[in-house]
Amino acid sequence: MHRFLASNYRADHPICSKEFFEWQFKVDPRTERAGIVCAWEGDELLGILGYVSCPVMWGSPVERKDAAFTLYWMVSPDAPRGLGLLLLRRVKAIYPFLLTVNASPIGRPILESTGWTCLEQVPRYVVVLNPDHCTEMLFNGGRTDYLSQLLFSAVPGKALPLNVKEAWMCPPVYRPDWKHYPSLAFGVVRSASHLQWRYVDHPSFQYHITGLGEPEKPAICVYRIEDTFGCCETKVGRIVDFFFPVGPEGELQGLTLLNSVLSHLQQAGCAFADFFCTMGRFGNLFTELGGRLESKTKQVLPVRLTPVEKTVRHQNVCISTPSTAFKLHNPSGLYITKSDIDGDSPAFLHAT
Ligand SMILES: CC(C)(COP(=O)(O)OP(=O)(O)OC[C@H]1O[C@@H](n2cnc3c(N)ncnc32)[C@H](O)[C@@H]1OP(=O)(O)O)[C@@H](O)C(=O)NCCC(=O)NCCS
Repeated sequence: MHRFLASNYRADHPICSKEFFEWQFKVDPRTERAGIVCAWEGDELLGILGYVSCPVMWGSPVERKDAAFTLYWMVSPDAPRGLGLLLLRRVKAIYPFLLTVNASPIGRPILESTGWTCLEQVPRYVVVLNPDHCTEMLFNGGRTDYLSQLLFSAVPGKALPLNVKEAWMCPPVYRPDWKHYPSLAFGVVRSASHLQWRYVDHPSFQYHITGLGEPEKPAICVYRIEDTFGCCETKVGRIVDFFFPVGPEGELQGLTLLNSVLSHLQQAGCAFADFFCTMGRFGNLFTELGGRLESKTKQVLPVRLTPVEKTVRHQNVCISTPSTAFKLHNPSGLYITKSDIDGDSPAFLHAT
């Protein structure tokens, strides 16, 4: 497996680290089994398709559906024709619902031709925290006067001290009742165990889970601070999960929490903060605090930051449902963010 990954991806790809691999595929130490369909010819691995089981809500906040995110779909150049599709069919036979983020330009048309629905761009919300630190990162014709149009404007008196993740992760502190979250009705269940795996146990990123409100209906915001390098060295806040309960009170909770997080990121020296999210209700609060929904056609602040890559990048999401009855006709009803499974991943193995 290591040889296959190192030669078909690259030797310094994080998935080549045993620790990262075991975390990513939720390897159970008792069985040492990872969720990857493998195609072998004799002793040679010719193709793989990974899947990570993540129950989803699909229309009902109380009902769970068996679902998986697919990732690391790769066949070697000498594999026989049709192998990729065969791997896909195998995983589809296990899980009725499949999702994938960042499908490649080769993979996406294949998925679409087999009935998957793809959303080309997950909306990205951007808020500038320190325009001077952003200037060097601007690309694609972005101008400094534009930055002032995305400037964070804090709501006075609404910044609270941040609750640290431990406080939020230990039951009974975090036990949301999903009926208060209709906006999460299509997406991965953000259960305590999911947050534990995705954020607390992550082998290389340090995420911060913050929350506000009652244990049954908190507003939650998860972020990490990225140290950029390359053409400029600064910090950027990546907000990777942000949701709050329904109703005006929930909205106010969300606004207060986001205001606190952005104030904190500003004090911590971040140039800007961003948030990828299909659900406009959550993203809209960024615009209430001065930020903007990034233009679909004009990206001026980079997405890849380690090193800073001044190239346009969008996150896509593709979905396969068991039948057309479950097909999601309006992707803005989904709750997908940058951190859904492998969307927020390190670029390289740590030097050590
Ligand atoms: C993506 C990948 C795994 C597909 O595997 P593969 O073995 O090459 O693909 P298959 O031969 O099984 O299937 C290709 C089928 O998809 C369909 N297809 C291929 N390209 C297509 C396109 N642009 N539009 C529509 N359908 C297409 C065809 O029906 C084709 O079947 P055919 O050979 O009978 O014509 C492989 O190309 C790969 O490893 N790519 C590099 C990594 C990558 O991009 N992974 C995808 C991540 S989302």
